[in-house]
Amino acid sequence: MITTIPFGKTNKGESVTLYTIDNGEAKASIANFGANLVAFEVKDKDGCFVDISLGFDNAAGYDSNRGPYFGATVGRFANRIGGAKFTLGGKEYNVTKNFCGKHCLHGGTDGLTFIMYDVTLGNDSVSLHTVSPDGAEGFPGNLDFTVKYTLVGSELSIEYFAKSDADTVVGFTNHSYFNLNGATSDKTILNHTLNIDADGYLECDSDALVTGDIHPVKDTPYDFRKPKLLSDVLGDDTGLLSVTGGGIDNGYMLWGTKRELSYAATVYNEDNGIALDCYTDLPGLHIYTGTFVDVIGKKGTPHGRFSGICLETQGAPNSMNVRYFPSPILKAGEEYYSKTVYKAYVK
Ligand code: BGC
Repeated sequence: MITTIPFGKTNKGESVTLYTIDNGEAKASIANFGANLVAFEVKDKDGCFVDISLGFDNAAGYDSNRGPYFGATVGRFANRIGGAKFTLGGKEYNVTKNFCGKHCLHGGTDGLTFIMYDVTLGNDSVSLHTVSPDGAEGFPGNLDFTVKYTLVGSELSIEYFAKSDADTVVGFTNHSYFNLNGATSDKTILNHTLNIDADGYLECDSDALVTGDIHPVKDTPYDFRKPKLLSDVLGDDTGLLSVTGGGIDNGYMLWGTKRELSYAATVYNEDNGIALDCYTDLPGLHIYTGTFVDVIGKKGTPHGRFSGICLETQGAPNSMNVRYFPSPILKAGEEYYSKTVYKAYVK
């Protein structure tokens, strides 16, 4: 069943609608502003619903508090583009410098996160479509883009479809911050365990821009090959994590992934039994532990450091500028497709 309610207005006055897919097991709410995942409600060990995705109470919340990208559909290119430029087909493209005055972050100021979408409803799915015009935020090609959310049981699939009329670069992700204690809880993610199926991480600089080096996770705080409690890792402001403020803001390469949907990571909260698995057909997973979050979310809930964890499935950050990273180029007329699954369950 899908229910539809008004979700307030954007700052420009556009009326926004919230669509909730409810199958009795779980509920997923999606807004047609930004194709944002506004809520993901799943059952805990007592059978009570917990909304595990941070967000805001209305569209204005999303439009006015853009920094954290709560629940966002991110594009045209997630993560950073170093120096906000790249060369494609011999031509240099300059995209919006919206990060540290020099890099492009998450597709620029008015990327795919901050626009209105056309919606098509299925029985258990919400598809959101837009055409991003040639030159938007500096990216080439008219890009026909659809993101489709499907909820089956407590498994939420997010599929991305794109086609451009000129060669371009693409990299989409979902930027939900999961807190398995609940979106209005005063607890952080420090009581969660994290498990990531990756043995290499991408080194980054203090702008969280990849240096191009990939290091083994072995003997580093980035090693989550076995589940580790986040309170044992986060908050170390002196070691390797000090580059990113004591949290994780790094990519992992899932080299085992061969463009088929494969297991990537799990977060688990022993206190209420909720576990969340992430699967992707993409070669990368960016983990952001909400280190710099400072905002008031749903029902006036203050969110600060480590208030949520993002499991951002993607290619490789800045891959248009790092020769040996998987290419982000989408050729004119080619169909882009990728799929991510967030599967909740009680463990
Ligand atoms: C980035 C962080 C950034 C956050 C919110 C993450 O994907 O890697 O550095 O602060 O998004 O914009």
